[in-house]
Amino acid sequence: MTSSLTTVAYLGATILFILSLGGLSNPETSRRGNLYGIVGMTIAVLATVLGPRVTAAGIPWIVAAMVAGGAIGLYAARAVQMTQMPELVAIMHSLVGLAACLVGFASYVDTSIAFTGAEKTIHEIEIYVGILIGAVTFSGSVIAFGKLSGKIGGKPMLLPGRHWLNLIGLLVVIWYGRQFVMAPSIEAGMPPLIVMTVIALLFGIHMVMAIGGADMPVVVSMLNSYSGWAAAATGFMLSNDLLIVVGALVGSSGAILSYIMCRAMNRNFISVIAGGFGTGGGAPAAASGAQPAGEVSPVSAAETAELLRESKNVIIVPGYGMAVAQAQHTVFEITKHLREKGVNVRFGIHPVAGRMPGHMNVLLAEAKVPYDIVLEMDEINEDFPDTDVAMVIGANDIVNPAAQDDPTSPIAGMPVLEVWKAKTSIVMKRSMASGYAGVDNPLFYKDNNRMLFGDAKKMLDEVLVALKA
Ligand code: TAP
Repeated sequence: MTSSLTTVAYLGATILFILSLGGLSNPETSRRGNLYGIVGMTIAVLATVLGPRVTAAGIPWIVAAMVAGGAIGLYAARAVQMTQMPELVAIMHSLVGLAACLVGFASYVDTSIAFTGAEKTIHEIEIYVGILIGAVTFSGSVIAFGKLSGKIGGKPMLLPGRHWLNLIGLLVVIWYGRQFVMAPSIEAGMPPLIVMTVIALLFGIHMVMAIGGADMPVVVSMLNSYSGWAAAATGFMLSNDLLIVVGALVGSSGAILSYIMCRAMNRNFISVIAGGFGTGGGAPAAASGAQPAGEVSPVSAAETAELLRESKNVIIVPGYGMAVAQAQHTVFEITKHLREKGVNVRFGIHPVAGRMPGHMNVLLAEAKVPYDIVLEMDEINEDFPDTDVAMVIGANDIVNPAAQDDPTSPIAGMPVLEVWKAKTSIVMKRSMASGYAGVDNPLFYKDNNRMLFGDAKKMLDEVLVALKA
């Protein structure tokens, strides 16, 4: 493939990636968006492998690597449970970071292209910055993987003087950057590069360890953004325009998502990144499974069906437990049944419900719930006072009134769905255990709240049977 044909193919792929991002912004067009992305990526890979920069001798190696990587990816995608998706995404981000680091070291020791003067300095800065971003992305994503999969506790690890540690790390990185660029030989440049890599790896670990449970959504989207910038840095090191553009697209869309997440949670981006937001001045987060206070009113599936049948307006609030129980299909069956009986059933979606952005929307779309009855928190929060039943399915933190009422709560200030303002709220979960943020939920003890204990899928099946009886 000639160089001009490769450029045209890259241009086409870039357009498809932009169309893909546009499509993914809306559930109705997301399938098309995915398709554009797949076609764009196929063109990009073919144009690169068949392009002028790959020699015939290199092709078998690339094909072997693609087969091995493809097989691992296929196995992971098939084996992963829907609830493990956020962990998979986190570990994928770590691979982008690792790739940036490896490409950085390889380009540094590669003497096949001799850079001189300003070009050499620019190339070295690209390498230094690329490895820096890659290392932070790699170690931060590995810790995020641990936190999301429950292998590492959700409580923030707040080292004394942590901001000073970060600042010292930054100064050392800048100082060694200067040493690296001024190094007369590869041998002399290697030690500063290695020291910086170690500091960046430690910084990534420190940054994510310091972030509390409820702030994890911001970290997930931020690491998504970092992985994009790491890919863009790799593009600079390899002088590959498409990688630069795609990396910048991922980086900037991840940055926008982080901003949206911060706004949705009423958090200041810098405070989240600096770590320990909401725990510094206030009371420490209650331990996971904190002992509840007060009495709760349990309700049966049959009574729940009765309450739903007598309602005019119902709002369903799904959370992580719905994903765990895979209850979305039964939720839709119930919704269909009630709507046929003239009940106005709608869904209220919190921006950080579940464990990844859009988690609930994906599950409801999979169950074929019509998009027009799935509303964002801001669109539906005012309607709870006119609602007969607010049915909370496996959600906890996102309906916790302590976020509004208790300034010492670790989730204070986070906007929540005000289900307690409905005539009756019904919380469906298996026990009194706390949610991801590890804080007790006063909603459970409110007079107008009922608890339907049990696995969400099992209980909803029983509710459906009772409704149809
Ligand atoms: P959570 O606060 O985690 O609560 C989920 C509840 O579901 C749990 O209290 C659990 O109680 C219940 N549950 C689990 N399995 C169940 C099952 N099989 N049947 C019925 N209930 C079940 O979830 P949420 O309200 O969706 O809030 C999300 C939390 O995750 C927030 O703190 C958010 O910050 C955090 N987070 C979000 C993201 C993104 S991007 N969305 C990423 C990382 C973290 P039982 O054990 O008693 O059943």
